[in-house]
Amino acid sequence: MQMELVHNLFIVWKPEYDLGIPIIDEQHRGIVTTINSLFYAMQNKHGKKVLGSVLNMVTEYTHIHFELEEDFLRKCGFTDFEKHRELHNELKHTLSSTENKSSWESDPQKFLEFLKNWWIDHICKKDRIFRDYLFNADG
Ligand SMILES: [Fe+2]
Repeated sequence: MQMELVHNLFIVWKPEYDLGIPIIDEQHRGIVTTINSLFYAMQNKHGKKVLGSVLNMVTEYTHIHFELEEDFLRKCGFTDFEKHRELHNELKHTLSSTENKSSWESDPQKFLEFLKNWWIDHICKKDRIFRDYLFNADG
């Protein structure tokens, strides 16, 4: 029984999530860890209690990560930079919405699903575009 709980992760990190850019991969894993910590709390019936602090942590971590990633992409001369930054801005906007916050506070599962879908899609599809661009540009 105990082992089942230990292995019951909401998001299991897969090798294909890695972009091959260490600091960005590290921060992506950090965000996934934070999402998993909310899931863990919910499994133990503490979801509503910790939601506020997880929301703050995810929001702050997201801001720090986007700042680093955008700085990196700007320096690399990524051609679709503005389009990528727009995706980041959309998430920042969604996370700061009071309406969303109150909806997530009353239903933490919704917040979990939202975060999982957004981040996995972003890491696997959107970030992969700049990763392919950079690695191809290097030859
Ligand atoms: Fe990104």
